[in-house]
Formats: sequence, structure tokens, C-alpha cells
Amino acid sequence: MNVLGIETSCDETAAAVVADGCRVLSSAVFSQVALHRPHGGVVPEIASRQHVENLPRILDEALTQSGLRWSQLQAVAVTYGPGLASSLLVGLSAAKALALRLNIPLFGINHLEAHLYSVFLAPEAPSYAAACPLVALIVSGGHTCLVRVDAPGSYRRLGQTIDDAAGEAFDKGAKLLGLEYPGGPVIDRVSALGDANRIKFPRTRVLMKNFTGGLSPALCFSFSGLKTSLLYYLRDHPEAVSEPTLKDVAAGYQEATVDVLVRGAQRALQRERVQTLVVAGGVSLNRRLRARLLDMAASLRVRVLLPAPSHCADNAAMVAGLAGIGQGITGEAAWSLDACPNLEIGG
Ligand code: KG4
Ligand code: ZN
Repeated sequence: MNVLGIETSCDETAAAVVADGCRVLSSAVFSQVALHRPHGGVVPEIASRQHVENLPRILDEALTQSGLRWSQLQAVAVTYGPGLASSLLVGLSAAKALALRLNIPLFGINHLEAHLYSVFLAPEAPSYAAACPLVALIVSGGHTCLVRVDAPGSYRRLGQTIDDAAGEAFDKGAKLLGLEYPGGPVIDRVSALGDANRIKFPRTRVLMKNFTGGLSPALCFSFSGLKTSLLYYLRDHPEAVSEPTLKDVAAGYQEATVDVLVRGAQRALQRERVQTLVVAGGVSLNRRLRARLLDMAASLRVRVLLPAPSHCADNAAMVAGLAGIGQGITGEAAWSLDACPNLEIGG
């Protein structure tokens, strides 16, 4: 099945064509990062306007690159949540219009499930069904959670952040350090030259169930204290926003963030007794996180599935791919789908 995917949940305008859930025929992404950078974060009004202006061009690009004609598409898949309401609506309206015009099925896709699926787009990856049961660590700009997957579509949330997402921790930390938005890639780059042990930042442990919505505190994350400790450190050491100290501060901050994520993933793997760890979302690009997770998993004899770098950040191939294996909301229910800004994964 040739599926056209559309993704407009945040600040990437993306379209892709994927055959049979795994062969990526094309993937076009327009990143709006440069337009949001002067504001230090994503501005929803700018994002939705940019989606309206760029989606037609990106759709054409995806189709041309795929080598297919409109008439050869067999379904349209679109992210309907979570994300920015006004941005989601642009993709959802375009997808409904296209599917109606082409007279082909529509699939509504959960953005977090799509991120998880991104690892199965790699040519060497096993099939999604064969990789289950698994534990997934989803780490993006807006979400940080641990999910158990028993079969495609069968999700159980094990843990999540009780405040900031991991990507948000990187973005806010970078801002305090005077580094540009988005902070994750810059902190990753600057930290590579620094000494992660010189300045120690706190690793917050969630201890009480009051904040976790019934989830096990041991599998939940908290990053807001880390950000505050960086704020206080910089108040006491104003010179640290410049070299030679900056790279050590960035490396220490990154190490604390990575440590918390790796410990959470390790506890989840041990409790759930599964043999596969999936890591997905924009933060899965982080080199230190990848290395530490691979080490931890090797010690537990667990295999790690990571997305290709081009499929870590928001893209539409993961959306089209997931629909290509029959997942998502389709049939009559898809036509009445509305944007769901707070959509979750696994209950
Ligand atoms: O998945 P994504 O593209 O968008 C959301 O769904 O949120 O994730 C974006 C997040 C941003 O917070 C960005 O700073 C972070 O991913 N990120 C990174 C790296 N590259 C992107 N964080 C740490 N290290 C990186 N190399
Ligand atoms: Zn995302």
C-alpha cells in the first residue's frame, strides 16, 4: 500500500510517501526552526501560518520524489495529536481534502505512536510485530515517557515526566547558557568538548505517587529541578556562560539529563523483563544518550532499536509508515476526527 503521510503537529511541515509500511519512497521536511529562533521557542501563530504556506509545496515535493502519480496513492495518513491545535488543523484539513478528492482511505495517527514506529523504517529493522514485547523511551521536545508495547497498537504507559520534557530541559538549559534555540543539538555539540564530571548537577528522583497519576514513581522523570539548579549555578558563577567553563557546564547538565533517562529506561527493562528497547523522538539524536543507552542495554543483554538520524525529529515517513501497517484511526471514524492537542499514548 502506498501511503501519503502528513505531519504538522509542531514546527516541521512534512510530507512523505511510504510503501507497505517500511519502504520510504520520499520524505520532505520544511523545518521552521530559523523562523522561531529569534523568539527563543515555537510561536504557535507563526507555526500554523507557515504550515498553510508551505504544505502545498512540501506535498508536491514528496510526490515528485516518490516517482508516483497522485492516482497511485492508496491512503492518506495524518497526525491528529498531540501538538499545537492550530498546526494540527492545517495537516488534518489538507489530509481530509486530499483523501476525499482521491477517494482513498484516511488514517488519523498519534504523533507519539509514530515516533515509536520510526525505528521500524530502518532497512535492517525487524518488523514491529516481531520486535514485541518491547519497552519504548519516547523523548521529544514536548514528551518524555516510557511505554510497554505488547503488540502494535497495544500500549501501556509505564512512566512519564511530571514536569518538563527532556527536550524542554535541553532547550531551557541552553537558553540559560545563552545558546541558541533549539538547545538540544547545541548542548550535544558543546558538551562533546567538555568534562561532564567537573560540575555535578542533581539527578531528581520522583518519590511520591501524588504527582504521577498512579504510575510508578521509579519510572517517572522530573527535570524542572535540574533547570533551577543550573539557574542558581549561573547566578553564583556568571563567568560560566563563556569558555573555558561553558563546555564543562553544558557537559555536566547533559550528563544529568542523560543519567535520569538511562536509569528510568533501565528500571523499566528490568521490571518488564523484555528483550528490546526502542528509543525515539528528537532527543534520541543525542550522542551521549545513545552511547549510554547502548552500554546499559548491553549489560542487560537487551537489544536497542534507534531511528535513523533523518527519522528522529518530526517527519511524515513515520506517520505514513504506521498507517501502512494498518495502525491508526481509519474508516468512518477518521472523517470526523478533530485535532487532539493533548492526545496521549498507552492510557
Ligand atoms: O521530536 P521532536 O523533533 O519534536 C517534538 O515532537 O517535540 O523533538 C524536538 C526536541 C527539541 O527539544 C530539541 O532540542 C531536541 O529534540 N533535540 C535534541 C537533539 N536534537 C534535537 N536534544 C538533545 N540532543 C540532540 N542532539
Ligand atoms: Zn515529535
